[in-house]
Amino acid sequence: MSEETTTPPHNSKLFIETVGCQMNMLDSELVVGALRQRGYELTKDVRAADTVLFNTCSVREHAEHKIYSALGRLKFSKRRRPNLVIGVMGCMAQKDQELIFQKAPHVDIVVGTGQLAEIPSLIETARADRDQTLAVSLGRRDGNRQTVASSFESYDPLREPEMRPTPYQAFVRIMIGCDKFCTYCVVPMTRGPEQSRSPREIAREVEVLAEQGVKEVTLLGQTVNSYRHTEDGQLVRLSDLLERIHDTAGIERIKFVTNYPKDMTTDLLEAIRDLPKCSHYLHVPLQSGCDDVLKTMKRGYTVADYSDMMDRINSIVPGCSVSSDFIVGHPGESEESFEKSLDSIRKWRFKNSFIFKYSPRPGTKADTLYEDDIPEDEKRRRNNVMLDLQNAISEEDNAEFIGREVEILVEGLSKSAVKAGEQNSTDPRAQLVGRTRCDRIVVFEGNRRLAGSMARVAVDDCTATTLIGHVVTREYQHNPTSGLPILQ
Ligand code: 5AD
Ligand code: SF4
Repeated sequence: MSEETTTPPHNSKLFIETVGCQMNMLDSELVVGALRQRGYELTKDVRAADTVLFNTCSVREHAEHKIYSALGRLKFSKRRRPNLVIGVMGCMAQKDQELIFQKAPHVDIVVGTGQLAEIPSLIETARADRDQTLAVSLGRRDGNRQTVASSFESYDPLREPEMRPTPYQAFVRIMIGCDKFCTYCVVPMTRGPEQSRSPREIAREVEVLAEQGVKEVTLLGQTVNSYRHTEDGQLVRLSDLLERIHDTAGIERIKFVTNYPKDMTTDLLEAIRDLPKCSHYLHVPLQSGCDDVLKTMKRGYTVADYSDMMDRINSIVPGCSVSSDFIVGHPGESEESFEKSLDSIRKWRFKNSFIFKYSPRPGTKADTLYEDDIPEDEKRRRNNVMLDLQNAISEEDNAEFIGREVEILVEGLSKSAVKAGEQNSTDPRAQLVGRTRCDRIVVFEGNRRLAGSMARVAVDDCTATTLIGHVVTREYQHNPTSGLPILQ
């Protein structure tokens, strides 16, 4: 890691665009934290910025196209303002490397997921020398496991509260990389070998976040429930880690994403059952409801294995909600295979599903081994059919909540209140949003002081994605020293 020796630029304005998963959101938070320490100010106006960063995603081709188009739009800005520094970071940087300079010669720095700590010095060097710099990790076949793993650095230094979804919620990375090598997926290449962070470091980070007022932490890993770390000769699993951070003062709720079906062990489910701050929500992608497709995907489980897992979830943590990811139009997915995926949604009634059209990714096994044989129109049709089914099921299950009361952690203003510009309003009442312990989104009218506290809400109505209600608790005020809510 390069230690910073450069002087902070005067009034430097940073614009950052982040696409992709929660891991990217966290990476952006950390990079912005490091840059702000050096005197950079964030701007939402790309034209006002002298440093523009794109934190990119390679999981689907579409996400990459969007970034290349955005880069194209900056070509003339760079001609007009040669002092502008343009950087591409994240998965696409690691995957495309020099190709980015070929496609967009006005880009100054390309920084992989394992080199984020170098960004501040790379920006300053680029501004001073105008040289293009590539900082990336080794490929999965460029050395032995240890060498490749150490070329991907876990980067979790400074935190930047302003970049968090809300002041009460924060992501905490507990592992990096992935070793599952599903045939369609580029992540094991872009994020490198699976490496778990030390539990001591994680626990400390959670404490610091709690001291900053965070109430909910979401532990992140590509296969978060595969977490394993040996500390003082003892194996620490995710269940042990949850127990360890559970009693952190100030933390009210703990979540973790994304889970891998085969690693959903009983000790983990028992920890969720026994630790009251754990959210009763699991995101465990099934990807396909057909064994033949799961085999071509090399997911490492069958539909029967997934079914056993669901039985264990339902018996150990009754009422736990489960969400899934599906890929439609994967090579070899027949109409019958697709129907089996629909059947799985009918059977397990996922809280929600993220549905993706198969996108061939260069460098993956699927791209070399299989023909992308489902036409785009058909992928789109399957996507829409699946989405309609999932939405109908989500709405039916949400309707079960009408007339009931739920306890929620209030996150802050709802999306529509933010859109309406209510952040700056002096009216204490506003439309707020929170989530139940099962991760259902609840929207209601309330005093904005409720943000960051637990509240009881009676549910009056719903859509497929949202419960709509009214607050039934008396409103809270925060004790300024303990941060705990107190009844008025
Ligand atoms: N094409 C389409 N969807 C993909 N995903 C991962 N790789 C691909 C691909 N090549 C989806 C999977 C994964 C989610 C994050 O993205 O469903 O769980
Ligand atoms: Fe990709 Fe599979 Fe790893 Fe998930 S488990 S990140 S889909 S390779």
